[in-house]
Amino acid sequence: MSQSTRTSKTAGRKTALPSRSKKSTSAASAASAKAGQPKKSLPGTAAIGEDAIAMLKADHKVVEGLFKRFEKAGDSAFGVKRRIVTDVIAELTRHAYIEETLFYPTARKAAPDTAEHVLESVEEHHVVVWMLSELADTDARDERFDAKMAVLMENVRHHVEEEEKEWFPLVRKAMNRTALRELGARMQAAKSDAPSDPLALRSAVA
Ligand SMILES: [Fe+2]
Ligand SMILES: [Fe+2]
Repeated sequence: MSQSTRTSKTAGRKTALPSRSKKSTSAASAASAKAGQPKKSLPGTAAIGEDAIAMLKADHKVVEGLFKRFEKAGDSAFGVKRRIVTDVIAELTRHAYIEETLFYPTARKAAPDTAEHVLESVEEHHVVVWMLSELADTDARDERFDAKMAVLMENVRHHVEEEEKEWFPLVRKAMNRTALRELGARMQAAKSDAPSDPLALRSAVA
């Protein structure tokens, strides 16, 4: 993407930001409100869902599966690769949304020793969401398409490894199983509030 395109996109973002941040806040509270829907809770108890960390790891596996399919697709399988990238954009945007709005803030509060990891993770999301936005606008026949995807995969694999190996274990230690399942229920409910535009994520302007 040219610098001018990037600048105009960034400028466009600025005008849209206030309503977006409002949406994120209301999305988080809506998520809490909806958290009781999948399983009925007794009055005064929080909803219990899948363990939040297990849920995020399952998402990571889905994305890795898409990456493997992309790597196996032939050089000229333009249609196949375009569809895979569309799925990658949707999966990673939804995943980053629930991490940024629910998991990261809760993890940082529960395990203060993760603060630096969380901050670094948001910066990594920042790079990834801009790459996703560029991939959305890049034709699969463009010579830069495979190169952009290769760099995106490197970035995401590095990010996932750090999350799973370096700091998710600290969160698991700090939060008990019930708390992780309550968080998982809120994250599950919030998935439907995720934006489709990766640049609508908080980290896009981090
Ligand atoms: Fe992440
Ligand atoms: Fe993640």
